[in-house]
Amino acid sequence: MSQDAAKRKAAEAALAYVQPGEVLGVGTGSTVNHFIDLLAERQLDVPGVVSSSNASTERLKKTGIPVLDLNNTGTLSVYVDGADEADKHLHLIKGGGGALTREKIVAAASRSFVCIVDESKLVGVLGKFPLPVEVIPMARSYVGRELTRLGGRPELRAGFTTDNGNLILDVHGLDIVDPVGLEAQINGIAGVVCVGLFASRPADVLIVGASSGTRVLKAD
Ligand code: A5P
Repeated sequence: MSQDAAKRKAAEAALAYVQPGEVLGVGTGSTVNHFIDLLAERQLDVPGVVSSSNASTERLKKTGIPVLDLNNTGTLSVYVDGADEADKHLHLIKGGGGALTREKIVAAASRSFVCIVDESKLVGVLGKFPLPVEVIPMARSYVGRELTRLGGRPELRAGFTTDNGNLILDVHGLDIVDPVGLEAQINGIAGVVCVGLFASRPADVLIVGASSGTRVLKAD
């Protein structure tokens, strides 16, 4: 099974978590793109969706599913999104697509976070995938120095601006043994908008698409 087919399998399994008649949150990336396409194909009873990025908003609009403002929806029943890495505690690295800040907001505003990945994303220790950090442009160098002090090698994502008008530093070389602690530490650096560690609010359900079948992991 190709990686893309495994992503689609995970996306398909996430349809079971959609609550009929309720607005849901939708993330960003190639796995979520399958989920958006499936929502439209299966014509589920979804009155609207809160999107985590301009890219997902564009795709949702093409399906005809209404895209709603989080300020008008209240708490969402479920948020479905992918990840760049996940561990067995359902801690995640996200932000490979640069949408981490809005993703973290929509995840925080949802009762349940269903994460969909192919099996290549499941790791023992987070950190092989460079950790994305969204920063205010004027703080780029300062934040870079602070991240180096924490043991990482930050690299500016070249030619990239987030939907919020900020920059991304991708931090290489971190062995993330304490994801909750590191998330708080990086969030505490002045000029950091958001770090792509989702550990203090991990996923509640992790659906892993694989050739051997689809596995569902739950928070311990
Ligand atoms: C977007 O900013 C990311 O958090 C994505 O959720 C992540 O990069 C997963 O992307 P794929 O589904 O394309 O692998």
